Amino acid sequence: MDAATHARYTSTAIALHWVIALLLLGQFAFGLLLDDIPRGTPARGYYVNLHKSTGILIGLLILLRLGWRWTHTPPPLPDTMPPWQRRAARLSHVLLYGCMLALPLSGYLASNFSKHGIKFFNLVRWAPWGPDDKTLYAVFNGAHHLAALLLALLVAVHVLAVAKHMLVDRDGLLLRMWPQRGPPVETAPSTLSMENR
Ligand code: HEM
Ligand code: HEM
Repeated sequence: MDAATHARYTSTAIALHWVIALLLLGQFAFGLLLDDIPRGTPARGYYVNLHKSTGILIGLLILLRLGWRWTHTPPPLPDTMPPWQRRAARLSHVLLYGCMLALPLSGYLASNFSKHGIKFFNLVRWAPWGPDDKTLYAVFNGAHHLAALLLALLVAVHVLAVAKHMLVDRDGLLLRMWPQRGPPVETAPSTLSMENR
């Protein structure tokens, strides 16, 4: 294990990573369960609005995470990682962030090109700001489905990659993203971007 492997993400980045991962997993299952509720029934409207509302809150958390990521440099990758693996890691992280943004955004946009709009937690109705346009709805809804599928694939690859690091390379990569007992470790804020690793 080299020095870089001992470096860790900030405790805020770690908390955001795991909270968002859990919430996304739940939201994904929620989305799939929506398929079982017959269209045109009151239950469908209720649960779809709940899905939209939790999705918007998760979207805000994702924006917070991106803001944190933008202003806090991640720890350097282990020296033992060959250049192609560094490139693959960087690309997969960018794609993961892309899907995490695309999911709530496409859902929000689709909802605003449908007469239903959003009823936030079934309490407050946000009237759609767009027209009831079936084509635009289908485009954004299609993007929502595609982003969900892509996210599931990327997360599977992500988990396999971490497993390979732990079981084959034995470089302790998971510990960089694992909550630590004791006083929190925060690295100095920086103005560095996604490319800085
Ligand atoms: C934040 C993360 C989100 C995830 C992971 C997610 C995931 C999903 C999934 C997996 C489905 C089922 C897709 C399928 O059956 O193929 C779905 C459906 C749906 N989602 Fe989301 N969603 C998210 C956020 C949102 C947001 C913010 C909105 C709207 C504001 C939204 C609106 C919808 C709607 C309306 C459907 C049903 C579409 C239909 O009837 O075909 N979602 N979502
Ligand atoms: C919905 C599920 C998940 C999503 C969306 C997700 C997303 C991400 C993203 C975007 C990063 C890059 C962090 C950055 O450099 O800014 C990351 C890092 C990481 N994730 Fe996940 N993750 C998920 C689940 C998991 C799971 C289940 C594990 C454990 C097997 C895991 C372990 C890690 C580790 C160890 C890192 C740090 C990698 C490194 O040091 O370069 N993630 N994750």
